This record gives sequence, structure tokens and C-alpha cells, in this order.
Amino acid sequence: MIFTMATNQPLVIAHRGAKGEAPENTLAAFRLGLEQGCDAIELDIHLSKDGEIIVIHDATMDRTSDMTGTVNKLTLAEIKQADAGKWFDEKYAGEKVPTLEEVFDLVPEHIMINVEIKGSYNRKLELALADLMKRKNRVHNVVISSFDHKCLVFMKLLLPDVRIGLLYDCNIGRHSALAATTGVPVFSLHPNAKRIDKEDVRDAVEQGLQVYAYTINDAAKMEQAIDAGISGIITDFPGRLREILKKGS
Ligand code: G3P
Ligand code: CA
Repeated sequence: MIFTMATNQPLVIAHRGAKGEAPENTLAAFRLGLEQGCDAIELDIHLSKDGEIIVIHDATMDRTSDMTGTVNKLTLAEIKQADAGKWFDEKYAGEKVPTLEEVFDLVPEHIMINVEIKGSYNRKLELALADLMKRKNRVHNVVISSFDHKCLVFMKLLLPDVRIGLLYDCNIGRHSALAATTGVPVFSLHPNAKRIDKEDVRDAVEQGLQVYAYTINDAAKMEQAIDAGISGIITDFPGRLREILKKGS
């Protein structure tokens, strides 16, 4: 089942949670996205030294916590010592770097989760991800995306029912041509919003692909994307997009 709204409005996809108003990739940011009425949550993952799936954008802890060091050289216990909220605002002090399992436990099943695999092809991470999705019964209503499409092909081999989404930033003419190059069924295309045009979106949607563009924060650009028939908008401000969609419905 595709959880697009009956009105054919695009999905409101909270980028790293409501990243514009809360510390990215924390449970606080995901809760805020949910409170603001998002349809889906986008997040990023890395693997810890001891094989836990950690929700964090960068390969290091440095930018988004009070700890330094590379995520895959730290254990979960070490990562849990970090404060991941204070850097954003004192009111978020004490916020922890979450595991993907914690996010699965927080987010209701009707809310889609877009898990972006960071870094390049890493067999250990994909194996851990497939195991977790099976153990938590979370294969449905999750889309796995990555700029490294090899990761996605491998995920599809591990979990044939999983939805995969191609992330890209290059100026490629037709989205659907890109989808065809993976050799496995693709659920969605995740282009940089700067690289899309109406014709591309129409072609992709006609071929049954969802098109989720990132990252659109400006109200006028959100309206342009809605007008282009986009299937989902990845935004740091899900509340702003929800208000625009309410006015237009
Ligand atoms: O998934 C869309 C977008 O999140 C990709 O870029 O750097 O924000 O992870 P980035
Ligand atoms: Ca991302």
C-alpha cells in the first residue's frame, strides 16, 4: 500500500525529523515532526563499532553532539554518553543519539520511515539493517534510500519486499532511466529539488515511481513542487508544509 493522501497531496516528509526547529536525528526532532503532522520521517544511519544501527547524519559525532570521534569506531555505550541536543538549543540538553530500533519503537507504523544509508557500500550495515527490520516487523512502510545504489540492490537481495529509493544529486535528464539501471524494482526517486522539472516528475509518476524531492524549506518552492505533482517533499519544516497543504485542500 502507498500511503499517499487521498487528495493526492504530496507526503510531508520530516527531514532528519523537524530539523529546522529541533536537533536533527534525535527523538525530540522526530516527535516534533509527528506533532506537526508529518506523513513520513527521513533519517540517516551509520553502524557503531559493536554493530548497532545509529541514527546520525555525519560519519563523526563532532557536529551534532558534544562528543568527538568516528561513529564506527565507538560502541553504543560510548555514543550514548553524548549530548545530542545542547548544541542546537539549551532546552534540548540531555537528548541522546538514538538507535534505529528506538526510532522504530517511537514512530507509529502508519508513518513511513525513509532510512538513508550513509557512506558507501558496507555489507555489515545492510545485514544489520535487514535483521533489525525483520526482528521489529518493520519491512512494510519503510523506504531505504542511498546515494550509493549498490547498497540498495543488496538490501533488495536481503529483503525482496523492501522498498528502495534512489538518491541522487547529478543533473540526469529522466529519472526513470536512472531507475532502470539498478536492475531491481525501484519504489522511489529522491532527487535534489534543484534538479527537478515538471516533465521529469510526470514521466516518473506515470511509470509508477514515487518522487520525493529534498530539501525544500521555502514556502514558494514548496508550492512549485506541489504544482509539479511531486509525491513527497522532504523538508526541515514539516509544520510549514502541512499548513500550505491545508490551505490548498
Ligand atoms: O534524503 C534526502 C537528503 O537527506 C539527502 O541529503 O545530506 O540531508 O542526508 P542529506
Ligand atoms: Ca538524509
